[in-house]
Formats: sequence, structure tokens, C-alpha cells
Amino acid sequence: MKKIYGSLIHGKWIKGSNFLNVSNPFNNKTITKISTSNITQTIEAIKSCQLGFKSWSKYSAKDRSEILKNFYSLVKKHRTKIAEIITLESGKPIQESIVEVDYGASFIEWSAEQALRIKSDIFESPESGKKLFTIRNPIGVVAAITPWNFPLAMVTRKVSSAVAAGCAVILKPSELTPITALELGFLSLEAGFPPGVFNIVNGEPKMIGKVLSTNPMIKKITFTGSTEVGKLLMKNSSSTVKNISLELGGNAPFIVFSDADLDAALNGFMMAKFRNAGQTCISANRLFVHKSVSNIFTSKLLERLKKLKVGDGMKGSDIGPLISNEALKKVINHVSDAKKNGAKILFGGNKHKLGGLFFEPTLISNVKKKMKVFQKENFGPIIPLIEFDSDDEVINMSNETNYGLAAYFYTKNSTTIWKNLNNLDYGMFGINSGKISTYLNPFGGLKESGIGREGSLQCLDPFLETKFALWNYD
Ligand code: SIN
Repeated sequence: MKKIYGSLIHGKWIKGSNFLNVSNPFNNKTITKISTSNITQTIEAIKSCQLGFKSWSKYSAKDRSEILKNFYSLVKKHRTKIAEIITLESGKPIQESIVEVDYGASFIEWSAEQALRIKSDIFESPESGKKLFTIRNPIGVVAAITPWNFPLAMVTRKVSSAVAAGCAVILKPSELTPITALELGFLSLEAGFPPGVFNIVNGEPKMIGKVLSTNPMIKKITFTGSTEVGKLLMKNSSSTVKNISLELGGNAPFIVFSDADLDAALNGFMMAKFRNAGQTCISANRLFVHKSVSNIFTSKLLERLKKLKVGDGMKGSDIGPLISNEALKKVINHVSDAKKNGAKILFGGNKHKLGGLFFEPTLISNVKKKMKVFQKENFGPIIPLIEFDSDDEVINMSNETNYGLAAYFYTKNSTTIWKNLNNLDYGMFGINSGKISTYLNPFGGLKESGIGREGSLQCLDPFLETKFALWNYD
């Protein structure tokens, strides 16, 4: 990669004097340099979006939809190249990156279609001679702040819905994985996005986050990332009462009931646990298995763990490196906290012999509620295994967390299914499935996992304001 990437402001690539090295977590080698945005450029990008919004919001829904469809086709055309960039900068296995490109592109296609379906309501008035109705207008300039774990899909899930609704977007991608987003910037121009409709700023997250969340020109913040940063953005956004959507951390229970199809449950678990080496907000973070099937399930799981190929994402591994030293330190800290408090390591438990940012797939038993592996999101290849006796017990244990994003369970019993759906405090469920990600999922959570939903039939709603009118026509 020879390019030096800059900020995308009003249809032009702007380069400054400060740079950020983007490195490959597999070998820590620098992939490329990014010219970062300073405060002045960030404000310039916001002003450009303000102008972009003025013209874009007047485009017909059909024209917006057509431009988004061009964008979709270009992303699909460059599928392989984009997937390689995702793997290079995030370390995830290439086959997962390809799935991410398709998943990410599906949000663009879906939003392009939904642009044509923005609806308002008209009511019969309780009084004669009057019409009551609503209209929907795009909210304005949107700031999207996206994470490193899905460098493409989290960008397209936000940006394409906002743009389809008629908003202009200023994007701040993760400083760990900005190249994918910047490549999307090139494709957006080729697709026909007018200047100022999609701007990208890079670099220092604290400074840029502060500017975006306090600037009065920005009407909405949409963020995916940690609960800690989400709370800070929420606090900063209160000074200008911004509309805010947050998709934050998770602590997903994965529950195997006594009547579950154990092989299917195991397949679902491997998918929900090891996608992106456990670095997803909806990753199975705690494995609950009914006592009566725990021995057999554990021995099957151990067999699968032995077969996992850890290594270079470019070379067909199942599990790549963690994203950073901080991520590695966190995983090490969770395992040592568990050991100190009496847990038993059934598999793995150490840094991987490959060194660098690799950690062994790890299975831990004798897990207690006070342990970090129970309380917190590990964002790594660690499995805390907890046995349970009754439905009520596992529901209570699953809910003993501040998070409420995703939950998974395997059972054939429809009463158990309904009981779980009604009593588990989570926003999304995999019922006999380890996969819940689709453009049709209203993605989001309860409690400290966030506010609002992204994607789905209602994907444009977070980017639209509803106005009400009473028309006295007599
Ligand atoms: C996430 O981890 O935040 C998103 C995962 C997904 O969309 O599947």
C-alpha cells in the first residue's frame, strides 16, 4: 500500500503535517501512514457537511437511492481488495473479512431501498374541518464514530442509513483501522456522493470526539464502541441536546439447556464465540450449560478447541491476533483474576506460542460471579463455563450484569423459549442459532449496552425528525 491517506473534506483529500502509523496486528509492521485531522480541519469538515446537507436533503429519494446503489455495486466490485485491507489492519481471518464486506454492503443496498419508503401519517381528525398529519425530515449533520472490530460494516450500517434519509455524515473511523473507511471514501466519490455529504476525519479520538459531540452544527451522534466512551459522548452531547444512538459493550450469555441438540449448540457456540477472535460486542461471553449435559458438552467443546488454527488471518486461520497490547493485557488480566479466585483452566490460558498479540483459545471452569470473566466483556478467545440446575437460576445469572446486548440459547422447548424471551434483559436473541447479524436485525441493546437501534426495517428512523401539523382547512 503506497498511498498516504488524508481526511476527506468536501470531496477532496486533505493532507496535514501530522501522521498516524497503521499497523498489522499480526506482525506489528506498519501498513501505511494516515495524515491526521487537527481541530481546524475537523471544524472545516463539519461546515462542509452543513453545506452538503443543504443540497443533499433536497435531492429526491430516488436520486439518493440511485447513488447509494452505485456505492453498493462499487463495494461489491472491490470485495476482495477491501477484505484484504480489513484483514491487514484488523487481523481477522480473510474468510471473515469477505463475509464482513458482504454484510457491510447489504446495509448500503437495504438503505438504498428504504430511501424510497420514507412514510408519514395522516389521521382522521376528531374535529371536523381539520387534517392532522406528520412529515419526516432528515435530522441534519450526523457524526458517526466507528470501532476497529468491523472496519467496514459498522461504517456502512450508520452512513448508508443516514445518507439515505437525506443527512450528511462526518465519519471518524477507529484510528486502529482507518484504511477500510478511507477506501470507502474513494468509492463514495466514484459513486457520485456530492461534496460534503460524506466527510472523513482521522486521528486523535479524544480531541475529535470532543469537537463532534459539542459542536452545535452536529444534530446527531451515532457511536459503536465501549460503554465508557459512549457515556462520555452522551455527557458531552448534552450541552447541545443532541440526538444520540449508542451501540456499546455486551456480556452475552450462551445457554445450553438439557434438551438442546448438543452438536448444533456446539456449532452455534463456536460461531458466536470465535468470530473475530471473540472481539465482537455480541460475542458469547459466558457459556451456561445445564448440569445434566455439561460433561458431554465440555468434552465435545475441548475437541473443537484443539482443532482451532491460530495464526495469520491472510493464511486461512480460524483465529487471528488481538487488536492491540491493551486488548492482550485485558485478556491476561481476566484469566489471572479467575485463577486467583479459584477457577480451573481446562484449556489454554496463556499467550500463544506464536507470540505478538496472539492468545490461546481458553476454557475456564469453576467460575464465580465475582470474577472479571463473569462480570465483564473479555473481548478475546476466553470461555468462562458455568453449570446451572434450573431455568430460573440461569435467567437470573444471565441478567446479573450491567449489559444487555445479545443472548443465545439452545432448547427445543417452546415454553422455555418464551420464558427466556420475556425474562432475559437483552435486545437481541439467537434461538438455536449462533448467528444474529443481518441487515434486518434492529441491532442494539438494553441497559448499559446502549440506546437506539441500527439497521432493520426502521433503519432510517434514527436519522429522521417527525414533525406534526394540524391543518384547519375550513
Ligand atoms: C459489533 O460487534 O459491534 C457488531 C457485530 C455485528 O454487527 O454483527
